[in-house]
Amino acid sequence: MQQLWTDIDDYINSHLIPTNPKLQHALDNTDTQGFSNHLAVAPNQGMFLQMLIQMNQCKRVLELGTFAAYSTIWLAKALPKDGYLLTVEGRDTHVIIAQENIDFANMPTNIELKKGRGADVMNQLIAENSEPFDLIFIDADKQSYPEYLELSLQLAHSGTILVLDNVIRAGDILDENNKKPSIEGIRGTFSALKNHPKLLSCTALQTVGSKGHDGFAIAIVK
Ligand code: DHB
Ligand code: MG
Repeated sequence: MQQLWTDIDDYINSHLIPTNPKLQHALDNTDTQGFSNHLAVAPNQGMFLQMLIQMNQCKRVLELGTFAAYSTIWLAKALPKDGYLLTVEGRDTHVIIAQENIDFANMPTNIELKKGRGADVMNQLIAENSEPFDLIFIDADKQSYPEYLELSLQLAHSGTILVLDNVIRAGDILDENNKKPSIEGIRGTFSALKNHPKLLSCTALQTVGSKGHDGFAIAIVK
């Protein structure tokens, strides 16, 4: 089925996702430097993130897990000039390529790339009484998702949107013998999301496409 899913993604993208030299440069530069783009969101997923920001007129966005900043550029593209996007990446090699791609994109909105563990940066923001974010995109190490979820709630306001990437992992979450930290992290996330007192609404959707079978969870803070 993978070939069909990829072909359908190509069809969707060729009709609905305009080519954008800044986004294309990010993908090409990532490729050229020998990194695989499999960690990046697909173009139609990037457009979905853009639309969430537009629908909710978000101005402040936090991203955990920059990788090479392809999703970062999608998020920034959706923000107004006086918007602010903070993106956090833990790996040195990813920070370097991400900054290159952000610099090339030269977006009108302010993009700040911080190197560090998501939880450390978030705890620091909480300690500094940071203004809350309107949308938080959680896409970093899956084993820390439960921690990122709780910290996100401390950096949110009523109506903040939380999007958590890669919560299906081709169904691995159902395999009880799979005890990988990333998979346990996602199971822990579903347990935390279940009847969470601080969430107004929450769901998860499975996706198939060029990135295989995966999905995302989405929640609105009460
Ligand atoms: C992986 C991580 C991601 O965030 C993603 O979107 C796809 C794959 C991974 O760790 O394999
Ligand atoms: Mg992801």
